[in-house]
Amino acid sequence: MSQELKVSRIRQGTVIDHIRPGMALTVLRILGIGAAVSHSVVVAMNVPSGALAHKDIVKVENQVLDEETLKKIAIIAPHATVNIIEDFEITAKHHISLPRALRGIIKCPNRNCISNQDHERVSSFFICEREEPIEFRCHYCEALVQAEQAELYA
Ligand SMILES: Nc1ncnc2c1ncn2[C@@H]1O[C@H](COP(=O)(O)OP(=O)(O)OP(=O)(O)O)[C@@H](O)[C@H]1O
Ligand SMILES: [Mg+2]
Ligand SMILES: [Zn+2]
Repeated sequence: MSQELKVSRIRQGTVIDHIRPGMALTVLRILGIGAAVSHSVVVAMNVPSGALAHKDIVKVENQVLDEETLKKIAIIAPHATVNIIEDFEITAKHHISLPRALRGIIKCPNRNCISNQDHERVSSFFICEREEPIEFRCHYCEALVQAEQAELYA
């Protein structure tokens, strides 16, 4: 008998595959998915992926991810694959990668940073500094932020 878990397929939407185990809940938060969701969402956590590895998967019906959302996902799940589903079939597959720089995505934790002074109209700008774990550094005040702990703009 097949060991595979069967869940109903989605007609239209997005499958985010190969998410590092444990990060699916953060992906849901980035997608704005909570208890009041009105479309189908399937979340698989720590399922087998290949011979040794495990992964999380998030499948959302009727949702297309914009560039900004993809960048947010990329900094917490840089090895994820984003599959676009139309009429039950995969019509596009994107291998996302870790951005080298991010404008207006990460909120600088330094309250005195110029990017936090509204009247200065400076949007935050972070440069990737390290990949394991993923860390970004503020271009203005040099604050160092771990991607998994970063506060993101809504
Ligand atoms: N209609 C659908 N509804 C929900 N999930 C789907 C649908 N079609 C495909 N998927 C899921 O999309 C993911 C990628 O499917 P695909 O068939 O491309 O697998 P794959 O060949 O293993 O791809 P990869 O090389 O990216 O791992 C899988 O998790 C699969 O279950
Ligand atoms: Mg696969
Ligand atoms: Zn700063």
